[in-house]
Amino acid sequence: MRVLGIESTCDETAAAVVETDENGRPHILSNAVLSQIAQHAAYGGVVPEIAARAHVEVIDHLVARALDEAGVTFDELDAVAAAAGPGLIGGVIVGLTTAKALALVTGKPFIAINHLEAHALTPRLTDSVNFPYLLLLVSGGHTQLVAVRGVGDYVRLGTTIDDAIGEAFDKTAKMLGLPYPGGPEVEKQALRGNPERFALPRPLNGRAAPDFSLSGLKTAVRVEGERVSPLSATDIADLCASFQAAVVDVIVDRTRAGLRAFREVAARPNALVVAGGVAANGAIRAALHQLATESGLKLVTPPPALCTDNGAMIAWAGLERLRLGVTDDLSAPARARWPLDSVKAEVPAEAAEAETPLPADKPLPEKPHAAAAGPGA
Ligand code: KG4
Ligand code: ZN
Repeated sequence: MRVLGIESTCDETAAAVVETDENGRPHILSNAVLSQIAQHAAYGGVVPEIAARAHVEVIDHLVARALDEAGVTFDELDAVAAAAGPGLIGGVIVGLTTAKALALVTGKPFIAINHLEAHALTPRLTDSVNFPYLLLLVSGGHTQLVAVRGVGDYVRLGTTIDDAIGEAFDKTAKMLGLPYPGGPEVEKQALRGNPERFALPRPLNGRAAPDFSLSGLKTAVRVEGERVSPLSATDIADLCASFQAAVVDVIVDRTRAGLRAFREVAARPNALVVAGGVAANGAIRAALHQLATESGLKLVTPPPALCTDNGAMIAWAGLERLRLGVTDDLSAPARARWPLDSVKAEVPAEAAEAETPLPADKPLPEKPHAAAAGPGA
């Protein structure tokens, strides 16, 4: 089975071809991504209208490149999948409409993918993780703890009640005069700063519900910055180190609460998975690694190229659905909001009765041969 996946929900335009061989093993045949960071950098964040226009300009070229690099033609695809949300609606419409048009002219099935579901299923592509597992999704737009029980079977255990964690990194960076995107810059500064100089809050730590709140922390950084202003290079490094230390404590405490909440909705998790752009942060990874070890769990971190927004994760989610016989019709809407909890996979009766090629709960092979897949931690 071979699926083309298209992603355009935020500031990356991406197209990829993923196939499974006769054993159900995934292979990433191509994974073309064009980031718009340069177009948005001057504004310190993603500008929706600029994003939508930039997607329009490159998407045809990117789809052609994905097919070319994969060495396949439209005829050799089994389906076309696109992220139908959640995201910036102008961009979502660009990718979704492109995929529908391609499905229509080629006569191939069309699959509308929830972008969060694609992040959630990625560890099955990269590390063959079996259901159920706990997913911590931390990016510029999302902060969620999700019990992943099966395809179309997700329980959101916790989320942020204000800013996303990546957003908090970006806003902190902006406040301190560091360039966008702020996460990597804050991490760099934190390496040479003193994490104990500023006493910053750890919002919601100790609460049973595994939710997050970041805006108070961000405000505390601003207040401390104003107090010691004008900021020296050392002040900036110390503020970054103190901020990152607080975020690490929050993530560990909230994820521990997530592991407890997981037990209420599923059997023991097969892994703790961390995905999204913030998962690139070394301090956060190290702390989660320790938490996983303490909890007797494997920590799975898909390689950065598959952790941040990409087309392969959309194609893979499409494949997971296609092999259950779940496809969509061309009326599937673009959605700015689309909670992962509400996503279902309605397996058609005839497909459920027939032998499906690889049921969702059949263990995947040990290690996929995926070009872009790397070590799990
Ligand atoms: O997943 P992603 O590429 O895009 C979405 O937001 O969907 O995540 C980007 C976010 C940005 O907020 C960026 O500042 C953050 O991930 N990020 C980091 C690091 N690298 C990227 N945050 C903390 N430390 C990093 N090393
Ligand atoms: Zn994303």
